[in-house]
Amino acid sequence: MRPVSHCSCSNKTRRFCRHFHGLVILVLLPLLSFVSPAGSCTEQERRSLLRFLAGLSQDGGLAASWRPDVDCCGAWEGVVCDGEGTVTEVSLPSRGLHGRISPSSLAGLAGLIRLNLSHNALSGGLPPGLMHSASLLVLDVSFNSLDGALPPPPPLAMKPPLQVLNISTNKFAGEFPSLDAMANLIALNGSNNSFTGQMPATSLCRSSPSLSVLDLSHNWFTGEVSPALANCTMLKVLKVGMNNLSGTLPVELFDMTSLEHICFADNGLQGELDEAHMAKLNNLVTLDLGGNSFHGEIPESIGQLKKLEVLRLSNNNMSGHLPSSLGNSTSLTTIDLKMNSFSGVLGMVDFSSLRAGLVQ
Ligand SMILES: *[C@@H]1O[C@H](CO)[C@@H](O)[C@H](O)[C@H]1NC(C)=O
Ligand SMILES: *[C@@H]1O[C@H](CO)[C@@H](O)[C@H](O)[C@H]1NC(C)=O
Ligand SMILES: *[C@@H]1O[C@H](CO)[C@@H](O)[C@H](O)[C@H]1NC(C)=O
Ligand SMILES: *[C@@H]1O[C@H](CO)[C@@H](O)[C@H](O)[C@H]1NC(C)=O
Ligand SMILES: *[C@@H]1O[C@H](CO)[C@@H](O)[C@H](O)[C@H]1NC(C)=O
Ligand SMILES: *[C@@H]1O[C@H](CO)[C@@H](O)[C@H](O)[C@H]1NC(C)=O
Ligand SMILES: *[C@@H]1O[C@H](CO)[C@@H](O)[C@H](O)[C@H]1NC(C)=O
Ligand SMILES: *[C@@H]1O[C@H](CO)[C@@H](O)[C@H](O)[C@H]1NC(C)=O
Repeated sequence: MRPVSHCSCSNKTRRFCRHFHGLVILVLLPLLSFVSPAGSCTEQERRSLLRFLAGLSQDGGLAASWRPDVDCCGAWEGVVCDGEGTVTEVSLPSRGLHGRISPSSLAGLAGLIRLNLSHNALSGGLPPGLMHSASLLVLDVSFNSLDGALPPPPPLAMKPPLQVLNISTNKFAGEFPSLDAMANLIALNGSNNSFTGQMPATSLCRSSPSLSVLDLSHNWFTGEVSPALANCTMLKVLKVGMNNLSGTLPVELFDMTSLEHICFADNGLQGELDEAHMAKLNNLVTLDLGGNSFHGEIPESIGQLKKLEVLRLSNNNMSGHLPSSLGNSTSLTTIDLKMNSFSGVLGMVDFSSLRAGLVQ
C-alpha cells in the first residue's frame, strides 16, 4: 500500500494526513476535500470582511456572494487566499460600491497584500490602517470620491511595506503628510485631487530611494520645485503638470539621469533651459514644459537626447531659432512648440528623419 504522506498536503492538513497514515487513498481523498485542503479564512478575517460590507451603502450585489455559510476563501467574490487560508488579496474594481471604507474592516486583515477598490463610488476618508498596514504592498483606491486629508504619518519606526499607492482621481485635499516612514514606495499616483501646499518631494525622496513613478498632476500644489527631488535617484516618471508651481527648475533636477518622462505642463515656472544641463538627461523620452513662462532658446544639446520622442514647449515665451541638432533626434515623433516667439522657424531643421507625427 502506498504511504498516504505521498499526497500533497498544506501545512494545516499535514498533521491530519500523518494521523491517517496507512489509510487507503480512496478513503482519504473524499475526506480531504471535505476539510477543504485550501484552508478557509479565520473567523477574524471573515468578520473584518463583513464589517467592510456593512459599511457600504450600496454593495453592487456583493452580499449575495459574501454569504456567512460559505468559505470566504474561494467562494467570496474578489477575495483571494493563499494555501494557508490567509486572505491576501481583495480585488473589487468597478463593482458599483458606494459608501465608506469602514476603518476597522479591511485594515484588520493581517495578511492582506493587495487591495484594489478602484473605479467605485466610495466616499469618506482613507483609513490610516490601510495606508500604514504592516502587510499591504499594493493599495489602489483610484477613481472614487474619497475625501479629506490623507492619514497623518505613522510612527517613524513603523516603515510600512507599501510599494504602490494609487489614490488618483479622488477628492483628497489638504497638505500631503510627511512620507518619511514610507520607505518602500515604488509608485505614488496622487494625481487629480485637491492637494495644496508644497509637493511632497522633500520627505518622499529622503525616505523612498526606490521611488520610480511620481504623479502629482492636477492638484493645487504651490511653491518651488524642491531640489530634494534629486534624492529620488531611481525616479523614471515625474509628472507634476497642472499645479501652481513657481520659480525655476532646480539644477539638481538635471542630475537625475534616471528620468524618462518629465511633465511640468501648466504651472507658473520660468527660467531658461541650460545647454549643459539639458544634455545630461540622456534617458529622456518625454519632456513636457508647455504652458509655463520659460524664455530663451531651445538648447542645441537637446539633439543629443537620443531617446527623446515627445517635446512639448508650447505656450511659453521662448524665442530664437530652432537648433538644427533637433534633426538628429531620430526618436522624435511629436514636437509641439506653438504659442512662443520662435523666429526662422522649421525650415532650418532637417526633420526628414522624424518617424511620424506632429510638428507645430
Ligand atoms: C485594479 O483594477 C483595475 C481594473 O481591473 C486595473 O486596471 C488596475 O491595474 C488594478 N490596480 C492594480 C494596482 O493592479
Ligand atoms: C494605479 O497605479 C498603479 C501604479 O502605477 C497601476 O499599476 C494601476 O494600474 C493604477 N490603477 C488604475 C485603475 O489605473
Ligand atoms: C495616474 O492616474 C491617472 C488617473 O487618475 C492616470 O491618467 C495617469 O496615467 C496615472 N499616472 C501614471 C504615471 O501612471
Ligand atoms: C479627474 O477627476 C475628474 C472628477 O473629479 C474626472 O471627471 C476626470 O475624468 C479625471 N481626469 C483624469 C485624467 O482621470
Ligand atoms: C537630499 O537633498 C537635499 C537637497 O538637495 C540634500 O541637501 C540632502 O543631502 C539630500 N539627502 C540625501 C539623503 O541624499
Ligand atoms: C498660484 O500661485 C500664485 C503665486 O505664485 C498665487 O498668487 C496664486 O494665488 C496661486 N493660486 C492658487 C489657486 O493657489
Ligand atoms: C516674453 O518675453 C518678452 C521679451 O522677450 C517680454 O517682453 C514679455 O514680458 C515676456 N512675457 C512673459 C509672459 O513672460
Ligand atoms: C548630428 O550627429 C552627428 C554625429 O553625432 C554630429 O557629427 C553632427 O554634428 C550632428 N548634427 C547636428 C546638426 O548637431
